[in-house]
Amino acid sequence: MSRSRFEDERRPLHSHAGRGPIAWGILLAIPLLTAACTESPAPREVATTVVFKHGKLFGDTTAFEGLLGQFEREHPGVRVRSESLPAASDAQHQFYAISLSARSAEFDVLALDVIWVAEFARAGWLRDLSALLPAAERAQFFSGPIEAVTWEGKPYALPWFMDAGVLYYRKDLLDKHGFVPPKTWPELARIAQAVRDKESGMHGFVWQGKQYEGLVCNALEYLWSNGGGAVDSDTIALNTAANREALAFVRSLLTSGVTPEFVTTLTEEPAREVFGRGAAVFLRNWPYAWQLFEQEGSAVRGKVGVSVLPHFPGQRSAATLGGWQLGVSKFSKHPQAAEQLVKFLTSSGAQRVLALAYGYNPPRHALYQDGELLAVQPHLRTLETVYAHARPRPVTPHYVRLSQILQAEFSAAVTGVKTPGEALASAQREARQRLP
Ligand code: GLC
Repeated sequence: MSRSRFEDERRPLHSHAGRGPIAWGILLAIPLLTAACTESPAPREVATTVVFKHGKLFGDTTAFEGLLGQFEREHPGVRVRSESLPAASDAQHQFYAISLSARSAEFDVLALDVIWVAEFARAGWLRDLSALLPAAERAQFFSGPIEAVTWEGKPYALPWFMDAGVLYYRKDLLDKHGFVPPKTWPELARIAQAVRDKESGMHGFVWQGKQYEGLVCNALEYLWSNGGGAVDSDTIALNTAANREALAFVRSLLTSGVTPEFVTTLTEEPAREVFGRGAAVFLRNWPYAWQLFEQEGSAVRGKVGVSVLPHFPGQRSAATLGGWQLGVSKFSKHPQAAEQLVKFLTSSGAQRVLALAYGYNPPRHALYQDGELLAVQPHLRTLETVYAHARPRPVTPHYVRLSQILQAEFSAAVTGVKTPGEALASAQREARQRLP
C-alpha cells in the first residue's frame, strides 16, 4: 500500500479532542483491514503520537482540529493528541510546574504563557528551538513575543498568538448619546456614568478584577498609563506617587458605581459574558473577545468598537503584552515530531486559520496586511499599533512569585481592604524580601 493511500484512508477519521482508546483502536486497525483486502503488504510504520497540551479554546474546535488533521496528513506516521487544560494561566502554570519538575514525559508540546518562558528555560524544562528560528524567520515576528521566548540569547519557544489589553465599547450607545471613545480614564468614567444613567440595567465598565494573573495585567495598565510601573532600572519600585494615584482611581471605579462590585470575581470569560449579553458600556479584555461578539446570535453583534486603552491625563496608553508560545518539553520522547508540530502551528498559514476562526492575533507582521483577515477584523489595524507598543510584564524567571505578591496586594487595594499606599508598601516590602 502506498503511503498516500494510507493517508487518504485515515482522513475521515480525524478527531483530535478527547480521542479515546476505542477510537484509537479503530484508527490503528484500518490499515490492517485494508491491507488484508489488497495485495500490498501492511504498512510497518508505527505511529508516533505527539501530545499537545494547551489552554481551553473558546468557540467551535472544528478549525483547530482541521489544522491538526492537516499536520497529520503532511507528516505521515505522526499523530497528534490535543489535550486541554483550564483557561486560567495560573492553573496551567501549576500543572506544568508539577509535571515538569517530576520530568513527566506525558506531553511533548506545550503552550506557554508569555510570562513563563524565562522560568521554564532556566529550570531546564524546554528544548532550545534555535534551529526553528533563524534570524530571517525571527524578523517576521513582533519584537515583544520574540523577547519573551528568548532566554540567555536562545529561543525556547515560538510565538503562537499574541494578546494585548484593549478597550471594547458599545459604539451604538456612544453614538446615541453623543460620545466618542474616551482617550483618558477619567473620560471613560464620565461617559460610563452618563450612559448608565440613561440606559436602564447597564453596568458602566467591566474588567478582570479577581485575584489572579489577569488582575495583574489590568492593574499594570493603570500604573503604566500614569507613568508608574512595578520595576524601575531593575529595582522593584511599587510604592510611588504615580502608582498610588492610579490604584486610587481603580478603587474609585468601584466606589462610584462605574464598575460593579462583582468585578472582583471576574476573569476574562465572565467579564466578556457581561458585555456580550449587552449589559455593559465598556469592557477591558484581550482581542479574542471580538470574534465572539461578532458571531451569529450575539446580542452585541455589529454594535462593538475596539480601541486602545485610555491613559491618565498627560500620559500615554499602555497595554499589557500577553499571548501564548509553543515549546517542546525537554522530557519529550519524540522531540523531532514535536518540533515539526511547533513549526507547523506557528507558521503563517496556521496563524491565519486561528486568526480567522478564533480571533487569535498573529504575532507575524505580514498577517496585518492580509486583505481577507482585515476585511473581517478591521480593528487589526489598530491592534498592530497596540502590539508595537505593548508592555511586557517584568521578564524574570521569578515572575510568578512576584505576581503572587502583586495579585494579593492589588486585590486588597481594589476591594478596599487596604488603601493603595498600604497595599503598594507591603507589595514592595514583600517583593524585595522574597525575590532574589
Ligand atoms: C491571557 C494572556 C496571558 C495572561 C492571561 C491572564 O491569556 O494571553 O498572557 O497571562 O490572559 O489572565
